[in-house]
Amino acid sequence: MRKKFIAGNWKMNTNYKDSHDLAEQIKGGLTEFDYENADVVLCPPFTSLSIVNDVIVDSPVMLGAQNVFYEDDGAYTGEISAGMLRAVGCNYVIVGHSERRQYFGETNDIINKKVLKALGYEINPILCVGETLEERDGERQEDVVGKQVRECIANLNAPDIEKVIIAYEPVWAIGTGVNATSEQANDMHKFIRGIITELYDEKTSSKVRILYGGSMKPSNSKELLSQSDIDGGLIGGASLEAGSFTEIIRNI
Ligand code: PGA
Repeated sequence: MRKKFIAGNWKMNTNYKDSHDLAEQIKGGLTEFDYENADVVLCPPFTSLSIVNDVIVDSPVMLGAQNVFYEDDGAYTGEISAGMLRAVGCNYVIVGHSERRQYFGETNDIINKKVLKALGYEINPILCVGETLEERDGERQEDVVGKQVRECIANLNAPDIEKVIIAYEPVWAIGTGVNATSEQANDMHKFIRGIITELYDEKTSSKVRILYGGSMKPSNSKELLSQSDIDGGLIGGASLEAGSFTEIIRNI
């Protein structure tokens, strides 16, 4: 039985003070929640990692970043290393989000290097994959997502792949209000798990958690999260409001 996993991706929202207040509200909204039922992770912008860590450090809520660079240190102006994230309390990092692929030119090869580097610092990557609307309309979603998964987890051994959280996020569902149906999502999750089985084995693939992301909100989360292969959610818009984020978690 895989433990459910809910992560809030705050994207480029919330300044230092807003982040503090939102983290306080989320923690407060989960005082009655039994964390045996789900891992809960907050992913604020880099500038708020420290303050959010201060808020959640005495609770089961965990900290994640939204990006990482694949070198250890050096002359890479503007980049943040895995060691820096680890030192500020991060247990997780989102890698390969479609917005990074789309606006910052991240390729599967770059993302693979980031996955490997994060693991080297004992940070669990939340690896994002997903097809565009054009690709789904052309019925190429399995080709696209399959290639992303295979290339982004290249050179990982079995103990490492079990530490990776995979997030299936169809690009057409992100921030649009149009979520994938539970059937579309579950079919893709099964497909992804099948690739892990093929590359490793069934015992390993049965342990890998696969999240759905893309317009998940309280009104659709229960159905999505009750599917056989949907192990949690990566939540953008609905994670910026403590009420909706904690409702999704409490409804698991
Ligand atoms: P959304 O974003 O929930 O606002 O659709 C999800 C994501 O991009 O991770």
